[in-house]
Amino acid sequence: MKIFNDITALRDNLRSKQAIVFVPTMGNLHAGHLALIKQAKQLADHVVVSIFVNRLQFLPHEDFDHYPRTFENDCKLLTGLNVNTLFAPSEKILFPTKQEFLLALPPVADTLEGEFRPGFFRGVATIVLKLFNIIKPNLAVFGKKDYQQLHIIREMVQQLNLPVEIIAGETVRAPDGLALSSRNQYLNRAQREEACNLYQTLLQIKHEIISGRRDYPVLLEIATKTLVKRGWKVDYIRIQKRSSLTPAHIDDTDLVMLGAAWLDKTRLIDNLEISG
Ligand code: PAF
Repeated sequence: MKIFNDITALRDNLRSKQAIVFVPTMGNLHAGHLALIKQAKQLADHVVVSIFVNRLQFLPHEDFDHYPRTFENDCKLLTGLNVNTLFAPSEKILFPTKQEFLLALPPVADTLEGEFRPGFFRGVATIVLKLFNIIKPNLAVFGKKDYQQLHIIREMVQQLNLPVEIIAGETVRAPDGLALSSRNQYLNRAQREEACNLYQTLLQIKHEIISGRRDYPVLLEIATKTLVKRGWKVDYIRIQKRSSLTPAHIDDTDLVMLGAAWLDKTRLIDNLEISG
């Protein structure tokens, strides 16, 4: 695996490649990332992974400084998967001057995650656009774990006519159902045992919908109360239309349920697609 910190050297190296598939990450790689990279390897000859903890997508009080950085171990994992190229720039390389051009995002970016983390998707979209411009991939793989992020990146690619195809990767879960995430390591033992209940609660609601219930507000209230009783602080649990991420109506069929909730100081998100 070739490792680049510098944009010019990376571009020189990638110039001759026929088909590039890109997997952007913030490092601290786990089985969820590795599944995306394995998927990427099936799609094109040359796999580029980036590791960059993007300050633009953290609010001032969030965990930017504490976000787990495990570069050496990440490199070992990527080498083990025969990744061709790793791009791991410093902040100085990606932001040599203050990043004053920022994208203006559609209203969906102010809902769900965007309602609780204002500016988050602007930071994500801006860095992803920069990385696309640097790497010029033919394809890029994003996980469904960050469902709204995937939706917004797809919209960005479509509305800005970016020459890249976005591929979705399935969420990887621990045996008890907890979606893998770098933030899971903030959980202590008791919290880790409790954490699967976000997924389990979404799953119960999914079963209710599949068996015909359409009283979404009631179902969402039940889900929220279940989690609150167990000690969670719920930011939101919503049932949305998959195509637009706007609230679902009773006659919509392709749905996704999304949730975000806190266990003490750790915020977890999850989602489940439902064919209603
Ligand atoms: O999903 C992530 O890890 C990040 O949001 C991404 C896409 C690498 C942008 O920083």
